[in-house]
Amino acid sequence: MLPVKACIFDLDGVIVDTAKYHYLAWRRLANELGFDFSEEDNERLKGVSRMDSLNILLEIGGVQLDEARKEELAKKKNEWYVELIAHMDDKEILAGTTQFLTELQKVGVKIALGSASKNAKTILKRIGLMEMFDVIIDGTDISKAKPDPEVFLLGAEALKVEPSACVVFEDAVSGVEAALSAGMRVVGVGSKETLYKANDVVSSLAEMTLDRLEK
Ligand code: BG6
Ligand code: MG
Repeated sequence: MLPVKACIFDLDGVIVDTAKYHYLAWRRLANELGFDFSEEDNERLKGVSRMDSLNILLEIGGVQLDEARKEELAKKKNEWYVELIAHMDDKEILAGTTQFLTELQKVGVKIALGSASKNAKTILKRIGLMEMFDVIIDGTDISKAKPDPEVFLLGAEALKVEPSACVVFEDAVSGVEAALSAGMRVVGVGSKETLYKANDVVSSLAEMTLDRLEK
């Protein structure tokens, strides 16, 4: 394995806890369609693209719709989500994030974002972290959702770093799988039980150090 030259971060669930806003918007949609949507159900949507998330939601509610109607509902959900994230600020950056990014910058490790979200740039701007990233790959750049490795491979390519010198930070099982398929090492952010495929697991970036990264 090469020494670490780049770190690629997922956004939702790693840098900010936006799962709660996605949940509120999806639950509002479910309720409008006449069924309930629990926080447990919401776990299934982590790391999953907007359209795939809608399909899971409709499956939970036992609702079948044509593609045009699905597009309409995904748009509606996103409008509610955008309203919710419009109030975000730097207080929502998860513990340890700014400090770890600063340490990486100091030692010259490149930093990329690898997110499935089409709202990633809006969120980074709101929380004031846009400038910390050398490269941003988000839902507007990719054609294949995680667990496909595309998002992370595009990140490594843009940084001009070989995949084996990259470490990915991910909170979703699909994201851990995507990183491993890209030939990268991966640190899971969350629980060991869920993210057992990752090379290492931390409960938040506050547990990360440069030493731990090299191990
Ligand atoms: C991922 C989230 O980062 O982005 C998913 O974990 C979300 O929950 C996906 O569905 C797509 O996000 P957006 O903002 O493009 O709807
Ligand atoms: Mg995530």
